[in-house]
Amino acid sequence: MASLRVPIGRLSLRNPVLSASGTFGHGLEMAGFCPPSAIGALVSKTVTLRPRPGNPLPRLCETSGGLLNSIGLENRGIDAYLRDVVPAVRGADTLIVTNIGAESPADFAELAERLDGCDAIDALEVNLSCPNVQGGKLPFGTDPAMAARVIELVRARTSKPIWAKLSPNVARIGEMAKAVEGAGADAVTAVNTLLGMAIDWKSGKPGLATVQGGYSGPPIKPIALRCAWECARAVAIPVIGCGGIRCASDALEFLVAGCAAVQVGTWSFADPGALARLPGEIDALLDGASIADVRSIIGSVRDGLGPRHAAPSIARAEPRPVAST
Ligand code: FUM
Repeated sequence: MASLRVPIGRLSLRNPVLSASGTFGHGLEMAGFCPPSAIGALVSKTVTLRPRPGNPLPRLCETSGGLLNSIGLENRGIDAYLRDVVPAVRGADTLIVTNIGAESPADFAELAERLDGCDAIDALEVNLSCPNVQGGKLPFGTDPAMAARVIELVRARTSKPIWAKLSPNVARIGEMAKAVEGAGADAVTAVNTLLGMAIDWKSGKPGLATVQGGYSGPPIKPIALRCAWECARAVAIPVIGCGGIRCASDALEFLVAGCAAVQVGTWSFADPGALARLPGEIDALLDGASIADVRSIIGSVRDGLGPRHAAPSIARAEPRPVAST
């Protein structure tokens, strides 16, 4: 058996397979398909300060190759999350990552502070990239200065590891990654969904009530892989790959591109048991290639471009003790 354990900053994950936010509930809803102990971490659906009903229906639309969504960050808000979800996930045998979303930097910061004291939560993933709120303008996902401002404020209010979830809807994602790294992020998640739309040509009706939404699923994998690779070349902090992954070889492509771990999202709707099987399937592929430690392939892409990145100097909050599963 290959060793699958990977570090993401000061966290140590039993394997590099994580759920992607918004596709796995808060984690335990899917325990029948995927025991938490099977994967490296559970990443929650986005939690906001106040409850959100989400966007009008229809807000899901299947296309010939992938899924469009405009859920609009429906969730019950931070009070309900702290009251109902945190006690339930406390004993889960994996790391817990809470994804937070907001429409202002101040609200992001307040969320970070509310979660900072929760010892059941191992890291915060900051959703800078939801395309289904604020009219799809992605203010924090497309402007490096705005993204950095959010991360700076969150950094000031929490000592938990901060993962910044980036949008692929930019020309130079490496610049976004550098901006959040400089602001104190401990890792980057690359990427969220692509802006997309569908139309029923007979009725003229868009597939989503909001017209445009986030496009995900296997067809976006080449774009997500390029984004993750570009981030890995740009920053010294770990990159967590996300986008279109459905099998072990997809996951390994992201690791070779430079990712420390991967998140599986839309594919869980098609095959809810995929996440639980993936670590074993990765192990089998590594064994078959006589690779004893998954860490040895991270960043091993032969892109002919030389060293990946120059580490910036970053002022960091005092770290907490290592969490590990
Ligand atoms: O609309 C949504 O809830 C999607 C969130 C996201 O893509 O971050």
